[in-house]
Formats: sequence, C-alpha cells, structure tokens
Amino acid sequence: MSNGESCEPRADATASLALVLRDHSATQSLGRALAEAVTTHAIIALNGPMGAGKTTLVQGLALALGIRETVNSPTFTMMNEYHSGRLPLYHLDLYRLSEDADTVSDLLATELDQFIDQKMIAIIEWADLFTVKASNRSYFYQLDHLVVNLDYVEEVKPSEDKEKNSPSFYMENGRKAKLSAFGAESCTLISGLKRTLKGNLKIL
Ligand SMILES: Nc1ncnc2c1ncn2[C@@H]1O[C@H](COP(=O)(O)OP(=O)(O)OP(=O)(O)O)[C@@H](O)[C@H]1O
Ligand SMILES: [Mg+2]
Repeated sequence: MSNGESCEPRADATASLALVLRDHSATQSLGRALAEAVTTHAIIALNGPMGAGKTTLVQGLALALGIRETVNSPTFTMMNEYHSGRLPLYHLDLYRLSEDADTVSDLLATELDQFIDQKMIAIIEWADLFTVKASNRSYFYQLDHLVVNLDYVEEVKPSEDKEKNSPSFYMENGRKAKLSAFGAESCTLISGLKRTLKGNLKIL
C-alpha cells in the first residue's frame, strides 16, 4: 500500500487525511475526488456544524458520478436516492430527525440494511448526531466506513507567510476537512484519494 499505510480490517481508524478547503469549489473538489476514488462501494459519515459544507461536498460527489438530478439535502424524508450515475448514491441527512438517538439509529440501520451490500455510495450528513449517542451504535461502527469531519477554521491567524501554498493563506475564509478510515475498504479509499489529490486541495 502506498503512503506507508496498511489497510488491515479493524475497528479503529486505520488511515487519516487532513485537508484545507480554501473555498466552495475546494469542498466540491473533495466530493469529486472521493467519488473518483470509490470503485464500487463506500459508506461515508459526514459530520460538521451548520453550514460547514456537507451538502456542497455531496453535490461534488454526485457531479463526479454523473448524476443528472439536482442534489439537495432531503427535507421531508431521511434519504434521497439517485440512480442516474456510475453508482447509486444514497444521501441521508439526520439533522431534522427527532432527538431520540436510539430510535433514529434503529431507523438508520433499517434504511442502510436495504442496500448496504450493493454497489453504491451512502453518505450520511450529521451522522455523529446519532451514531455517537445511540446505545445501538455498534451497528454503525461494525460497518467499514469513512468519517469525514468538516469544520470552520477556528482561528484566523494574522499570517506572516502569505505564500500561496501555505495553509495559513487558505485558512482565513475556508474550511478544513479531516478524513478517517474505519476498516480496510475506507482505508483503501483514503490511499486512492492521496494519490489523486490535486489542484485546490491542500494537505494540512
Ligand atoms: N471550503 C469552503 N470555504 C468557504 N465556504 C464554503 C466552503 N465550502 C462550502 N462553503 C459554503 O458554505 C455554505 C454552506 O454550505 P452547505 O450548505 O454545503 O453546508 P452544510 O454543512 O450542508 O449546511 P447544513 O448544516 O445547513 O446542512 C455555502 O454557502 C457554501 O458555498
Ligand atoms: Mg446540508
């Protein structure tokens, strides 16, 4: 495996990657790069505060899959699905669901069970609202999955180094992303991503 990583199946994070996303298009590019790195199957838990860029990332991913429909977060349902691209895309958003973590977590397991073994990408906005709190979280954690945490840059440091490639240059208005693999499949995904990273995606 390149980058010195081993992708043995195990429950703890096996690989990680931190990126600076300078602007909207960088978040979309990360979505695109993720889609291109997936061969046939991926489960992605997408976390981050309100407005961090979660849906933007899903939109980039959908574009790269060749999905023709407009992708927005599901409003009245838990999940939207798209079948016009290279792989089916299941887009879940848990934000508007009740605060009862166990109920939502059961619901999530029931939804995922319907297609989990198929060729597809499942991406779950606000996954940590429920997967972390629920008492049956072991269902989710036994699945090989990639966690993507998006966040605002906490601190705007007056940058002495305004070089174009310096992270501090990009951190003034953008976002950051931390990707962590839980299992062999998602570890391989991160390795693939590292090989293809280019353009506006800068490694932190
Ligand atoms: N890397 C970035 N730098 C600056 N702005 C960004 C970046 N990525 C996305 N944005 C902008 O952030 C705003 C919120 O994006 P988006 O709706 O994707 O967030 P979200 O995490 O899905 O929000 P919500 O929590 O409401 O679901 C949009 O205006 C988008 O253009
Ligand atoms: Mg959203």
